Amino acid sequence: MYRITVLPGDGIGPEVIDEALKVLNVISNKYNVKFDTKKYLFGGIAIDKYNTPYPKETEEACLNSDAVLLGAVGGPKWDMLDGDKRPEAGLLALRKSLGVYANLRPATLFSPLRGSSPLKDELLKDGLDVLVVRELTGGIYFGPRGTEKTEYGYKAYDTEVYDTKEIERIAYIAFEIAKKRKKKVTSVDKANILDSSRLWRKVVNNVSQKYPDIELNHLYIDNCSMQLIKDPSQFDVILTSNMFGDILSDEASQLTGSIGMLPSASLRGDKVGLYEPVHGSAPDIAGTKKANPLATILSLAMMLEYSFDMVDAAKDIRQAVNNILEDGYRTADLGKGKILNTQEMGDIVVKYLKE
Ligand code: IPM
Ligand code: MN
Repeated sequence: MYRITVLPGDGIGPEVIDEALKVLNVISNKYNVKFDTKKYLFGGIAIDKYNTPYPKETEEACLNSDAVLLGAVGGPKWDMLDGDKRPEAGLLALRKSLGVYANLRPATLFSPLRGSSPLKDELLKDGLDVLVVRELTGGIYFGPRGTEKTEYGYKAYDTEVYDTKEIERIAYIAFEIAKKRKKKVTSVDKANILDSSRLWRKVVNNVSQKYPDIELNHLYIDNCSMQLIKDPSQFDVILTSNMFGDILSDEASQLTGSIGMLPSASLRGDKVGLYEPVHGSAPDIAGTKKANPLATILSLAMMLEYSFDMVDAAKDIRQAVNNILEDGYRTADLGKGKILNTQEMGDIVVKYLKE
């Protein structure tokens, strides 16, 4: 029996989470594995009740579970709060408290969605399978910051900080994963400008000595964001910092047709993993049943694979999603087809899994 702490969060979060839980239920029966799922308040909804986005009770539940499944957080209702009181601050606190420094964001194109990608078909003939390995608990998101009064107005600053250990451990993750893929790591930095990037590059080069079979190259962030659109087939694993990974993963997601398709797993090498769709809380479509639940359902597949070693169940889910898309079913974000709402998409995943 595995314990899963579920954090639906805000906006479309609860809607997509409910669909993923339906899918988990089928997997439980089909593979005869028990899951104990319990929902806790997190994000804006937790601020409303407890005045903090990451209440103690939620933190304890997360730390004592085998995995955490998260929807999304944030919305206009909480936008006027100070930075450290916002729902997003809770997300950073959650990642930090779980110690999940390795964020895996696979941008994989399901072949039936080739027409939904903004890229020309000829660029996609070999498919698209890029894994962004994003450092998640360091860098400018967590470095010294502040806002100070000046004579004229204010000055505000955030600091990018990385030490050898932080770079080393994320680099190891990237190289280990590359072993099981196309054996290529592209490390992305801004080493022509930033000291932190120069250290990043040096440490990644050192780690790469231990992986003679893995091809390593380095790209500057500006060039990489251009190359991703020019020819994404050159990439296998992209290894990068917290902020660059945040930006590149949104860009990569769009190449797969919609950010509504992109799952993520955040790991620290041992037990508790955090699984969440890459998309946000999308307050503009919350309650309209338009949200695409597939990114959350695919995040669940990553949980089954990485936290519970249920590789077949994970494959089963991905295959069902592919077949559904092949049969022409779409949520609104994916363009033309037999359009389904959030619940209908969840139901059809359940149906295909049972067949
Ligand atoms: C993401 C999000 C978060 C991030 C925000 C909501 C704090 O954009 O998971 O990509 O920047 O990490
Ligand atoms: Mn982001």
